[in-house]
Amino acid sequence: MSNTIIAPSILAADFADLKNEVEMVNNSQAEWLHIDIMDGMFVPNLSFGLPVCQAINKYCKKVQDVHLMIEEPGRYLKDFVDAGADFISIHAEASRHLHKDIHTIKELGAKAAIALNPHSPIESVEPLLEDLDMVLLMSVNPGFGGQSFIGSTFKKVEKLRKMIDSKGLDTLIEVDGGVKDSNAKQLVEAGANVLVAGSFVFNSADPIQTIADLKASL
Ligand code: DX5
Ligand code: ZN
Repeated sequence: MSNTIIAPSILAADFADLKNEVEMVNNSQAEWLHIDIMDGMFVPNLSFGLPVCQAINKYCKKVQDVHLMIEEPGRYLKDFVDAGADFISIHAEASRHLHKDIHTIKELGAKAAIALNPHSPIESVEPLLEDLDMVLLMSVNPGFGGQSFIGSTFKKVEKLRKMIDSKGLDTLIEVDGGVKDSNAKQLVEAGANVLVAGSFVFNSADPIQTIADLKASL
């Protein structure tokens, strides 16, 4: 078994039963809870915002991994840290002042990550790599849960792992979108440290067992 972190994505949960869904993750072997924020501008969908994060924060005992799919995320970084975010990922494609925003996250006391859409080259994070705790590679186009995994992600993970290792860094690589039992092991072998899984976990008959099986398979 590897020490890969599993981060169930709350986007796929039953929002009418959010407290129990968070408790399910608390009772599982998942180390993190992935929280997707969408603004209807950067991505063509709205998810939920700060009041829901504050509600999750009341019950969540896991690391809160907030993925901001919003334009100019710098406007809301303090609010999300105040709402319990431990990690904040901002998109390279959405921030005009990426260096400044990454440093703001760290000054606020959270861990900082840059997220890259499937089309964005890993070279775009290279100038900031030393400053990052994590790089989030999207393996679907962001905006919706339940999409099919984009196969070229494996190569991208491998390339990024080489870049991180060659600089002697311990930056985490997170993969997000369409992750399930059929691609998880190959992602870990390519160098991923954190796997986000939404529909694969929450749409299964027994999410706690699904998380345990996923971990055991790695
Ligand atoms: C997509 C989100 C993902 C999504 C993953 O925009 O960033 O985190 O919730 O869901 P699945 O695992 O169903 O692809
Ligand atoms: Zn996400």
